[in-house]
Order: sequence, then structure tokens, then C-alpha cells
Amino acid sequence: MAHEVREQWATRAGFLLAAIGSAIGLGNIWRFPYIAYDSGGGAFLVPYLVALLTAGIPLLILEYTLGNKYRGSPPIAFLRMSRPTQVLGWWQLAICFVIATYYAVIIAWAVRFTGFSFQQQWGDDPEAFLMGDFLQRAEEPGLMPDYVAGVFWPLVAVWVVTLGVLALGVRRGIERANKIFIPLLVVLFVILVGRALTLPGAVSGLDALFSPDWSAIADGTVWVAAYGQIFFSLSIGFGIMITYASYLRRRTDLTGSALVAGFANSSFELLAGIGVFATLGFMAFTAGIALDEVATDGIGLAFVAFPEIISNMPAGSLFGVLFFGALVVAGLSSLISIVQVVIAGVRDRTGMGRVPAVLCVGGATALASVVLFPTTNGLYLLDAADRFINQYGIALAGLIVVVVVSWVLRKLPALQHHADASSAVRLGWWWRLALGVITPIVLGWMMWDSLRTELAENYEGYPTWFLLVAGWGVAIGAIVVGVILSLLPWKRGGDNGTTSGAATDEKSKASN
Ligand code: ALA
Repeated sequence: MAHEVREQWATRAGFLLAAIGSAIGLGNIWRFPYIAYDSGGGAFLVPYLVALLTAGIPLLILEYTLGNKYRGSPPIAFLRMSRPTQVLGWWQLAICFVIATYYAVIIAWAVRFTGFSFQQQWGDDPEAFLMGDFLQRAEEPGLMPDYVAGVFWPLVAVWVVTLGVLALGVRRGIERANKIFIPLLVVLFVILVGRALTLPGAVSGLDALFSPDWSAIADGTVWVAAYGQIFFSLSIGFGIMITYASYLRRRTDLTGSALVAGFANSSFELLAGIGVFATLGFMAFTAGIALDEVATDGIGLAFVAFPEIISNMPAGSLFGVLFFGALVVAGLSSLISIVQVVIAGVRDRTGMGRVPAVLCVGGATALASVVLFPTTNGLYLLDAADRFINQYGIALAGLIVVVVVSWVLRKLPALQHHADASSAVRLGWWWRLALGVITPIVLGWMMWDSLRTELAENYEGYPTWFLLVAGWGVAIGAIVVGVILSLLPWKRGGDNGTTSGAATDEKSKASN
């Protein structure tokens, strides 16, 4: 087909809502509270804030600037920066493919749990209900596909909605969906947190979250957890923000947008933390146990602990519908952004039209998701893939990107100039220091530390063969796929910068 002008956000506010919608996701609602809880509550907040300021916000600004300056999804943006680095872009695209396949599954669970909340169908034993009745989890990790209809059909529905929004395009699909999702999410959460705060025992939960535990500050694993959470939560290292910023007009306030999106995400995350810790306080109070004995693991916290508490509170069904409904809404806007990276990457490199790309590329992602995960082994697969693609996908790609941009290509001054040219807040030396020195050191150490743990003992005690396939296989597979895709002789390059460059900006106002 003929050259198609690049799509654009209708307004900067539309972009911001979409960027915030991408950031706020399952990571904020079930991951943050659990990671904070597991890291000792009060011990977590200081490393979390340091990670936000030294890595999160600076990287967010970097990704916005890369996307806006080079005007493309990761493969094209990196290629235009320096041809060999396009492999980083394809790697990020492969990472997004993997994450999308299992992220959709958790949204599908939340869809079902929204329904279960009306009748509190989990009965007296939510854990047995989750693992047995609902997921029908196999005794041991394996690869035989034994499908579970109760997960399969909602997963299909999640994919139909996601691909439907993506097929409508950036302005009519993603931007409009977020204009509905974000206000809805804020309303749901304000009601939810308000309710949680009025529960007996709530204050003890908040105490655990907000009383700083200075002795734990020296614990390296808490720092690793904090950096990992910031990456996942802000959607950095996936290439999402590069893609979203490529649909911005040239002269947009990039630094200001990154500050708004970063702080909005963390505010929401803290709000979620307050709601969940208040609820945990209530659980500990009713069960007569200590707060650190209430929850089990990440998945347990949302899908076991919440049903438990819903059953034990007045108007619990309403609380459940709000909580799981919020999880669905937050998850969908993030899933949309993750899949958009894969679609945009292929479109930028092939010139494929939007709807065919959504059907082929989005369809292939959906297919992998529905074939692999709604099975009796799906939970094990999801757990291993999530762990390895986060550590050796998102965080490792983030580390390599900052090292290449700051030290190999020495592009930070030029990128700073680009961001400063249109932003109200000017970036100072702190930005280059954070990206060029602090982030590589902390992330490098994190990588080393987590690799040591990985090699010392099998994650979750899973069999080695299973981790080789579902963990290492997935993480290394993403790198291999990235390399292969970067070596393919793509017909349409876009490396001259004109395919979607500034010249088309004005024309594209009419597109979409
Ligand atoms: N940033 C998204 C989340 O928090 C991926 O879930």
C-alpha cells in the first residue's frame, strides 16, 4: 500500500491519559502492594522513591525523547539512532509479545472474579477455589495442554476487546478508550480505598506500610525489588513509551509529560498500596493474626486474600465487584499499550495497514496466549515466564539501552537538547548522571545479584527442565527472535526518517 502518514494523538492530554493508562495496570494494584508487603512494608518506600527519582523518571524522559525524536516504534527509533541498535528495538518487541500473552490471562481471571464476587462463589476456602475449581491447576509443572473452559472463554473476550480497540487506531481507539478507562478507574479506586480505610484494623495495615524500617535499607534484595517494580509499573524497558511518544507532535513538552505520567502512576500505586494494606490490616484483625502472616504470594494476594476479606465484610460483594472491576480496567489499558508496540513495530517496518496488522500480528499474539495459558499448567507457565522476562527481558534491556545510549553512542547531550527545546522544565546534569552513572551501576548490580540467586536455586523449586523451557527458554528466545528480526531484509526501511517524519505531522492531523 501507499505511504501512510503516521497516526497522531488528538491532544497532549489524550497522550498523557494513554501513557498513564499504560503505566497503571496490574503492576500497581496487585504487584506493588505485594512487593511492598514482601519487602517488609515500611522498608520498601524509601528505595521505591529513590528508584522512581533516579531511574524511573529519567528513563521515562529518555524513552519519550527517543520516540519523539526518531518518530517510530522501537525497531525504527533505534535504527534511526544508529543502525546496529535496531536489534534492541526488536528485542523489546519480542518482550512485549511474551508479556502480552500472559498479561491478558490475569485480566481474564479478574473478569471471572468480578462475576464471582456477586455470589461470593469462592465459598469458605478461596485458595482451594482458585487453584482447584477455577484454574484446575495440575499437581506439577508440565507442558501437556489440558484446557480450562472457565479461563479460555474470558481470555478470548479480553483479546476481542483489546484487538477491537487497537483496530480503531491511536486516536479513535487507544485515546478514546483511555478517556473512559482512567476516570472510571479513579472513581472505582476512590470508593474502594475509602471503604478499605473504614474497616476495623485498617490503621495497623497503614502503620506497616508507612513506618520506615531503616534497618532494612541495607538489604540489597529490597532495592532490587524496588527497581524492578518501578520498571514494570512505569512501563519502561518494554518500548511502550517510545511507541506512544512517536505519535506526539514534534514540539511537545516531553519532560513535563514524563513528570506528570510518572508521578500520576506512583500516586495511584500508593493509593492502591493504602487500600490493600488497610484491607490486610482488617484481615489480620479478624483472623487474630499478625499482618505478615496474612498473605502468601503475588497471585495469592489479589485472588485469594481479597475473596477472603470480601466474604468477611459488610457489602463485600460490592467491594469485590469494584476491586476486580478496577483490575480489569487497569489491565486492559496496559495490555492495549503492550500489544500496540508489537503491531506498530511490524507496521513501521513493513508498511502494513492498521487493520491487517492488528489481525495478523495482534491475532498471532492472541493465538499464542489462548493456546498456551488457559490450561491446567497455565499458572506454572505464567509464573516462570513472568519472572524471567521481567528480570532478563525488561530490566536487562533497560540496562543495555542506557549503557548504549550514554556510553557507546554518547547521545545523552543531543537527546537532552531535543527534550529541552520543547519542555518547560529543562534537564540538568542530574539527568545525565542518573542515566549514565547511577542507573547502570544499580541495574548492573541487580542483574548480577538476581543471576546469582537464579543459579543457586531453582525459582519456586520448579524442575530444571521446566525452567529451561518456560523461563530461560522464553527470556533467551526473546533475544534470539530480536536478533533474527533485526537481520531480516525488511522492504520498507523508514531509516531515512521520512516515512513518518515531521513533514507528515501536519497532514496526519486529518488522518485517523
Ligand atoms: N505498567 C503496567 C503495569 O503496571 C505494565 O501493569
